[in-house]
Amino acid sequence: MEKYYFSYREIHEIIQQKAKEIISSGYMPDYLLAIGGGGYIPARILRTFIHRPIVTVSLSRYDDITGKTVSIPIKQQWIDKISIDLTDKKVLLVDEVDDCRTTLEYCVNELLKTYDMELSIFVLHNKLKEKHGKIPDAVKHMFIGKEIENKWINYPWDALDITAHELLSERNND
Ligand code: G4P
Ligand code: MG
Repeated sequence: MEKYYFSYREIHEIIQQKAKEIISSGYMPDYLLAIGGGGYIPARILRTFIHRPIVTVSLSRYDDITGKTVSIPIKQQWIDKISIDLTDKKVLLVDEVDDCRTTLEYCVNELLKTYDMELSIFVLHNKLKEKHGKIPDAVKHMFIGKEIENKWINYPWDALDITAHELLSERNND
């Protein structure tokens, strides 16, 4: 298999299983902070098991105008103390994939410029590869849904034809 095709069911089950482990460990955040776009759907699924409000930021490694990858993520949407004060809160960042780790490192460091808070991270998938970014020492917990090989992942929310996508995900599981 050259690429992964993950179904909504597989994703839901990974998140459910990891949420169970998180709860049993005694950790409970005050907020889930989805890093959009990829973190939105995983964060919403996670909330089914960890009943906490979702707040969001949106970061992009792509410049929509030039179509090129940018080294510093672009803040499509961000938060400040006026919109929500997360000072002294336990916040669980949620993203779909830890690929190069650039986004996670940037997001944590930017949030810590504004807020004095306890940050942890939940990623649905971690690609086993060399990382460019580093998880800052301030991060309390790093929760990983599933470790995977360094291959391109097709997520169901990107599918133009969800029926074909689900068929491919079943085939890949054989
Ligand atoms: P990271 O720092 O979050 O580890 O990832 P990196 O910046 O290296 O990745 C650049 C973009 O590519 C990110 O999207 C990331 O989610 C996406 N990406 C990386 N690997 C895969 C993959 O295997 N499959 C898919 N579908 N996407 C992948 P982004 O700029 O954050 O955009 P958005 O999708 O979150 O809006
Ligand atoms: Mg993203």
